[in-house]
Amino acid sequence: MVERFWIKASPRTWLGVGERIIDEARWWFRKFDRVAIVTGRRSAKVSGALDDVEKILEECGTKYVVVGGVVPNPYAELVDRIAGDVWRFGAEALVAIGGGSVIDVAKLCSAIVARGGRAEDYMKRRRVVEETIPILAVNLTHGTGSEVDKYAVITVGNEKLSIASEALYPEVAIDDPRYVATLPRNQTIYTSIDALFHAIEAATSIQASPFTEMLAETIVKLVATYLPRAVENPKDLEARYWLLYASSLAGIAIDHGRVHIVHAVEHGLSGVKPELPHGAGLGIVGPLFVPYMYRAKPSTMARILRVLDPELEPREEHGERAMRALINFLKSVGFDERLSNYGFTSSDLDEACRIVSTSLGYLARLAPFEVDIEEIRKMLQSVL
Ligand SMILES: [Fe+2]
Repeated sequence: MVERFWIKASPRTWLGVGERIIDEARWWFRKFDRVAIVTGRRSAKVSGALDDVEKILEECGTKYVVVGGVVPNPYAELVDRIAGDVWRFGAEALVAIGGGSVIDVAKLCSAIVARGGRAEDYMKRRRVVEETIPILAVNLTHGTGSEVDKYAVITVGNEKLSIASEALYPEVAIDDPRYVATLPRNQTIYTSIDALFHAIEAATSIQASPFTEMLAETIVKLVATYLPRAVENPKDLEARYWLLYASSLAGIAIDHGRVHIVHAVEHGLSGVKPELPHGAGLGIVGPLFVPYMYRAKPSTMARILRVLDPELEPREEHGERAMRALINFLKSVGFDERLSNYGFTSSDLDEACRIVSTSLGYLARLAPFEVDIEEIRKMLQSVL
């Protein structure tokens, strides 16, 4: 039996994990007279999370409005529209019910509602996030980590931009395994791949530390153990509980160690084709970078990936072996995709590489090795 618990997951965030943990967050809802709930299209309702939140708000006598329609890879104009609805309602706080896209939209809305401005100005750093209204994030996937981190990723034009601010941390994050039991099979896999690469990149970036390495070892172990169970039986709440915990740890890991080349390349690809799910993009291109990370940090990579292949040793030449172990694990849970599944052609790769080398250069520079854009172009061609 798994227990409910709370931890201080960021300087501002109380994270609660476990079934019906939201019942223990009434203290937060009671602080406000008017609250806006930000959601995606269906999952808030289907998961049961929206019903639970509405019930608590009604019991607390808090007025609320539901502002829906957030789509994956959300764009700046959508954030402006939602922020306008939230502001007109006079909300003092936001409840974000969804995955990373919904939570990131709520984060940026919280800045716009507090101080005005447009989403594009914040994302292009023409304006700094100074103040926000409080957010409670109910997480409906086990990958993003956005419920405990200070980042918001929003698409402007065809570029996925990321901003960071201490003011963007949610005050409360809710990880209830019941809410992710309805996560579709492909999302279950994609979001877990996201958590895996948050772990691997945070443990190998130039900002990595023994702390992010320790987190990464735990995260990879949890995903390797529980993702096969969740794929086999979506209603396995114990598996969902540990996958949620792993993804929150991964959010904490990237808050400390950041992500680097795999995320930079994925953002370049989904900038060109927003229909490419973030985790799918990472799963397609991520393993290709494992030998590079292994060469740069053999003992770290051996430590965190040994659960996938117990024979891995901290020797540079084991990088290829580690890559195969990761690919085999992904195949074992049913992930075997290529870029052409999403309609990519060679010319799309040129555009993706241009985005990586220009607007995403700051992320690529966090990698523990030199990044050659021509080499990346060839790597992408191999998974087309
Ligand atoms: Fe990610």
